Amino acid sequence: MKIIHAKDYTDMSRKAANIISAQIIMKPDCVLGLATGSTPIGTYNQLVEWYNKGDLDFSQVTTVNLDEYRGIDRENPQSYYYFMRDKLFSRVNIDTNRTFIPDGMDEDSERACRAYDEIIKRCGGIDLQLLGLGHNGHIGFNEPGTAFEAQTHLVNLTETTIKANQRFFKDDENVPKQAYTIGIKSIMQARKILVVVSGEDKAEALRAAVCGPITPNVQASVLQLHNDITIVADEAALSRI
Ligand code: F6R
Repeated sequence: MKIIHAKDYTDMSRKAANIISAQIIMKPDCVLGLATGSTPIGTYNQLVEWYNKGDLDFSQVTTVNLDEYRGIDRENPQSYYYFMRDKLFSRVNIDTNRTFIPDGMDEDSERACRAYDEIIKRCGGIDLQLLGLGHNGHIGFNEPGTAFEAQTHLVNLTETTIKANQRFFKDDENVPKQAYTIGIKSIMQARKILVVVSGEDKAEALRAAVCGPITPNVQASVLQLHNDITIVADEAALSRI
């Protein structure tokens, strides 16, 4: 496990974007596993900046996102589909036919999950998986207690996660209680993993993930078993390590 110390959020974003850029340059038709949430926004902004300068080409890149809320359609500004289009896809030359996000509107959750596993398989697996870290140690929406063997599945979000997500919704009642997420198994099968972590509020989760026992109670602790993982974290997030 490699831990890269960043000074602050901006530095973390630039360092993470550097790693993603290197992946795209080395393998222009790579498969990127992408995350939403607040943490990667700076990384996406940096990638867009380098794309605008002519330093990056997304035309052959495929992306597979980690998760999507259930019951929120793609045009809803709170959907992860909307987020990805807004923060990255509409700002670079990616072919949107090659961008994948679980279908939150599929009523048949089993079908939605198997279809998504099939997409990941058809892409040939993930070359570089970008992850954020939840306060309870979740990665994707794999909440504490989930079996490490899980593939794409429907999740009942925990109270902590629902609370953390409230900041994005005007009305508390509208915060989704369920989401689709790719499982730990698919994350661990990625050839490289890059985790971005910022802020003191993540320090305990990062400590537990990196220094604590490997346990389903801290989903991110499984990353200790991956053979090519880089964590880019700022000083505040690293304050307990
Ligand atoms: C998002 C995701 C989540 C977030 C995590 C951290 O696609 O899968 O695991 O990465 O909840 O979220 P932020 O970055 O908002 O603190």
